[in-house]
Parts: sequence; C-alpha cells; structure tokens
Amino acid sequence: MSKDKKDYSKYFDFSDAKILSEDENGKRIRIRGREINILSEPNHRQEKQRGKQDVQVLYDTALPEEFKTIGLGKFYLVYTFGCQMNEHDSETIKGMLEQMGYKATEDRMEADIILLNTCAIRENAEDKVFGELGHLKHLKTEKPDMLLGVCGCMSQEEGVVKRILSKHGFVDLVFGTHNIHRLPHLIQEALFSKEMVVEVWSKEGDIVENLPKKREGLRGWVNIMYGCDKFCTYCIVPFTRGKERSRRPEDVIAEVRELARQGFKEITLLGQNVNAYGKDFTDITYSFANLMDDIHKIDIPRVRFTTSHPRDFDDHLIEVLAKGGNLVEHIHLPVQSGSSQVLKKMSRKYSRETYLELSRKIKQAIPDVVLTTDFIVGFPGETDEQFEETLSLVREVGYDFAYTYIYSPREGTPAAVMEDNVPMEVKSERLQRLNAAINEHSRKSNDRLLGATVEVLVEGVSKNNDSMLSGRTRSNKLVHFEGSADLIGSFVHVRITDPMTWYIKGDMITEPFAATDAV
Ligand code: SAH
Ligand code: SF4
Ligand code: F3S
Repeated sequence: MSKDKKDYSKYFDFSDAKILSEDENGKRIRIRGREINILSEPNHRQEKQRGKQDVQVLYDTALPEEFKTIGLGKFYLVYTFGCQMNEHDSETIKGMLEQMGYKATEDRMEADIILLNTCAIRENAEDKVFGELGHLKHLKTEKPDMLLGVCGCMSQEEGVVKRILSKHGFVDLVFGTHNIHRLPHLIQEALFSKEMVVEVWSKEGDIVENLPKKREGLRGWVNIMYGCDKFCTYCIVPFTRGKERSRRPEDVIAEVRELARQGFKEITLLGQNVNAYGKDFTDITYSFANLMDDIHKIDIPRVRFTTSHPRDFDDHLIEVLAKGGNLVEHIHLPVQSGSSQVLKKMSRKYSRETYLELSRKIKQAIPDVVLTTDFIVGFPGETDEQFEETLSLVREVGYDFAYTYIYSPREGTPAAVMEDNVPMEVKSERLQRLNAAINEHSRKSNDRLLGATVEVLVEGVSKNNDSMLSGRTRSNKLVHFEGSADLIGSFVHVRITDPMTWYIKGDMITEPFAATDAV
C-alpha cells in the first residue's frame, strides 16, 4: 500500500462505502445513502509526473447550444479562496456560467449554484473552506435543489476528495484545475443524476483557449503560462496545477490587444513562475523577455506580472524591463529565506548571494524599482542564526512590502516529512520580528516620497471615507486622496503629504489625463 493511501485511510472510514458499478468511465459508489459518480479522482503519484504527456492546446471550446439554457432564470455565486491564478479561474467559471444563462448574485439564499474555488497552499486556507462547507450544509438542508460545488487546488488533493466523499455528502460537484472547461457538462450531469459528481484529472495539463471570462474593474489578468516544475520542497502547487506550459505568444498578445481595445488600464500577466515562460516551446525560441518586449509596444498604460522566480530572472529580462513605458517599476521577487542552507533545503535553486546579486543588478538597471517578496518562517529545522540571516537580507534588499507566512506542512510534499524541531511559539515570534523589520523599511521608503508627485490610477472610493479616493502608483503603492468618484478609472497626479506604513496620503494636483499619456 502506498504511503499516501495509508495516511488517508487513517482518517476516513470507507467501510460502509458500496461500489455500485465500475468500468473504464469511472465508478459509482454509495456512502451513507449518498450516491456518488466518480468519473475520475485525484492521484498524487500521477500529479508528480513530468514530461511524458504532450501538451494539447484546445481552441475549439465553444459551448454547445443545448447548454445555453440550463441556467436561464437561475443565479450563481462563486467564492474564491486562492491566489490571482485562482481569482482568474473564477472569472472563467463565471464567464461559463453566464454563457449557460445563469446570472450573478451576492445573496446565497437566492443562489441556485454555489461554487467554492479553493486554495491548498497552507492549512489555514483549507480550514476556511471546510468551515464554509459547514455553514453551507445548513443552507443545503433548507434548499436541497441548490447545487453546491468544490473546485480549485484542494480538489486536486486525494485526501481532500476522500474527506468530502465521506464527511460532506451534501456536496454535489467536485472538479479540479485541469477540467474547468468541463463545468457545463458536469453541472448538467449533477442536475440530472442528483448524484454527487466527481471529476478531477491528474494530468500534466493542457492549455484551453477561448473560454469566456467575466472580468470586472479596470485591471485585467492574463494567463501566460500554467503549472510549475520547480517542486520547492514545501509547496503543493506543482501537484495541483500540473507542469509548466506556456500559452502561444500570438494568443497572449491577441488577448492583451483585446483588453487594450476594451479600455483596460492595467493588465497583470499571470503564471506561477512567469520567467520560465517559453522554455517549453520546442518549435520557437521566445522567452518572457521577448514577450515583455512585444507587450511593451501595445497601447495599454500599465503592465504587471506575477510571480517571478529568482532562478529564471535573466539579464535580457532586466534589460527589457528597464525600458519602462508601460512596464512598471515593481517586481515581486519571492525569496522565502535569507539563509542559503534553508534555501537549499527548500530546493529553491539559488543562494542568498545569487539573490542579492540579482537584486543589485535589478536596482542598478531600474533605479526607482520597488521590490516586494514572500517569506516563509519556521521551515523545518530553521535555526535562530538562519532566521537572523533572513532579517539581515530584509535590511540589505529593502523590501517595500512582503507576504510573510509560517511554514505549513502539506501532505505529499518532501518537507512534510522533514524533522521539525522549531516550536510554534518560536515560529510566531520570528514572524512578528520579520514583519516589524519589513514595516520599518516600508515606512522609510514611503517617507522618502514626501513632497513627491506620483502618477495614480484611481481605482475606487476609499473603504472608510466616501470623499476619499484610492488608487495605486506604478510601483503598486496604495494612495488615498480627496476627489470625486467620477475620477475612478482615470490617471491623476497626486502630491504626497502623509506617508504611512501601509499607504500614503496626498493631494490631487492635476485634472485627469488620458490613459495613453501615462505610457
Ligand atoms: N510561484 C510563486 C509562489 C506561489 S505560492 C513563487 O514561487 O514565488 C505563494 C507563496 O506561498 C510562496 O511564495 C510561499 O511564500 C508561500 N507558501 C507556499 N507553500 C507554503 C507552505 N507550505 N507553507 C507556508 N507558506 C507557503
Ligand atoms: Fe511553489 Fe516553488 Fe512552484 Fe512557487 S516555484 S509555485 S513556491 S513550487
Ligand atoms: Fe492556492 Fe492553488 Fe493558488 S494552492 S496559491 S490557489 S495555485
């Protein structure tokens, strides 16, 4: 018996599960009175595999006519728990639901279908989803005809799917990250069969083009690649998202042009590791730097990207980013730790020294660049000295912002079985010290902006005060200033009067100017 199976059977009792039928199209089982149609289920071993399956690019994904009436007169609600990639998947899911005739609602009592698009990155992300399922159980009792689905990264995990089958039999639909385009078919199946339908593909992954996307706001996300081959020892993503595969440059560029035409002011190119873009092409030589260079010529005011892995950040890319224009002066460059020994155990494939060298090169080429990052504290066995190296790296690089996390073991990853002798109190204390060091620099960096004039894309009315607007600088700093709501969506100049740690305040000094002038 594989290690994974042994682990899961410890928690879940399938002794009362009865197999009703089984063939090459999957199996139907009954657990505690609930019939479940398992078309395919996640398989951790298959998720690890790389390089054996060809990447298919599917273009012909138009929704057949018979699906376009399924949702007429009905409402949907999608909850998103994960990263930008996950948010963008939700935009695709919403786009497909609307093609099926469903309309959006914020009211769960009104919803005919509720989907939880989940994240598996840390235990607390998963806890939130199971907590939400607990609440939705009551709603399902009141509204048994409502369809409840779980999708996203958690669905790709064997343990999670087993837990849903055995403990959350009120769920109607489980699907993964590789078969989002199958949603209309799965909804139809669940509606008509009244059984729980489970379809999760554990494949290396395809590229599915031309799905509808329901984008909201001024900022558009654009996938440039999917998956991750880095297998950092703590990380679940390579298992939940498949292998690195890049969209064809012509497809990315056509999408960016279309967003420019629709009037989007800012786009963010998405990938788990955008610098690896193009490395999988066998017929052309075309890198992330080439892509950025081509997008630089498109008439869209701001272009961001996330996330870049330090390992693949090459000189050509730095050279292209230094051209400025619509390529903004902000780079999110996750470092995770300042200790080369810890980085080695994490399998990040760079050292403290090479990271520092890279950050120096970037700062030299782009003098007003703002660097932000991610840190994990309390990695198994992290010593006080190694943590001190993280603090000193913070001071040396000078980040304006960082996402900081306490290490969370993820079942099936190599770090989950590493010996961890660091008590939770020590991890929490390290997190606080790290946050304090980052905040100190962030405040200093904001203080330097006092009296400066910055370009702000106005995004909305400030949460706490109706007469205040909020927006972002090119370097992604949050700015609050007084102004009227009709400025939302335009670019203005703001003179900084009150720098704070998390945001800056200022006075608007110009009339709005045309987006294209901002380039
Ligand atoms: N592809 C991106 C990261 C995606 S996950 C990159 O490599 O930079 C976002 C962040 O979550 C990571 O940068 C890391 O800091 C954090 N993270 C990932 N796995 C984690 C775990 N098991 N415990 C705690 N934090 C984790
Ligand atoms: Fe996870 Fe590492 Fe891939 Fe980022 S690069 S998604 S941290 S495995
Ligand atoms: Fe979470 Fe999956 Fe994103 S695990 S961070 S939603 S890729």
